[in-house]
Amino acid sequence: MNAPPKLAVNRLNASYGRARILYDVALDVGPGEAVALLGRNGAGKSTTLRSILGLIANCDGQIVFDGEPLSRLPAHERVRRGLGYVPEDRRIFSDLTVDENLEVGRQSPRQGTPRWTRERLFEVFPNLIELRNRLGGRMSGGEQQMLAIARTLMGNPSLVLLDEPSEGLAPKIVEQMIEAILVMKREGVSLLLSEQNLRFAMLVADRVCVIEKGRVRFSGTAAEFDARPDIRDAYLAL
Ligand SMILES: Nc1ncnc2c1ncn2[C@@H]1O[C@H](COP(=O)(O)OP(=O)(O)O)[C@@H](O)[C@H]1O
Ligand SMILES: [Mg+2]
Repeated sequence: MNAPPKLAVNRLNASYGRARILYDVALDVGPGEAVALLGRNGAGKSTTLRSILGLIANCDGQIVFDGEPLSRLPAHERVRRGLGYVPEDRRIFSDLTVDENLEVGRQSPRQGTPRWTRERLFEVFPNLIELRNRLGGRMSGGEQQMLAIARTLMGNPSLVLLDEPSEGLAPKIVEQMIEAILVMKREGVSLLLSEQNLRFAMLVADRVCVIEKGRVRFSGTAAEFDARPDIRDAYLAL
């Protein structure tokens, strides 16, 4: 990676109460890059993403986004600066329609970041078109996941934190999700996605960061990771 990173995280530590969860986590995401944060259940992936967004009270470390330190800013200010977040549990408004859920995500476009309209989003997520008037609570898990990503894109983020996008999705929907992520990349959105599905991660990621018990155990390009079955066996195999 030669350009200055879009996101640079260093010495990130986080705790829940007295339970220490992250230990000096370091990772970065280059402009337009997709980085996969891999690790078993409980490794600290969601905590890392939540810390970057500013949702963990007991957290310290360096988080630099577009060259500006974020660590002292509240989550809403990080979002205003172009950080998008799709949580593991999606948080779709179940009593709002697809169209209304998308409207909730709308933010003014900012300079130098991809600009999304509802029409453009329906090109990326064609299955949402016929669901426009469907209530969020009446959609399948896969449809909700698509909507959660589309809603985040309505905020015109330059980097999206995606927490386990493939989790619980039927195989056919996983393929659509891969396609959607590749379109986001082509549009220039940078991505940091946590995953337990290795195949999914390897189809979309440029680089890989492996965490276990809250520590980074490997970080490298997708090709470097492919050449390290020992890492996969030690930290990712069930
Ligand atoms: N709100 C919380 N309070 C206390 N412990 C938590 C909380 N959320 C997660 N943990 C613990 O933190 C560790 C890391 O969790 P998490 O970041 O969710 O891992 P992952 O996303 O990799 O599965 C786990 O041991 C989990 O039990
Ligand atoms: Mg998680």
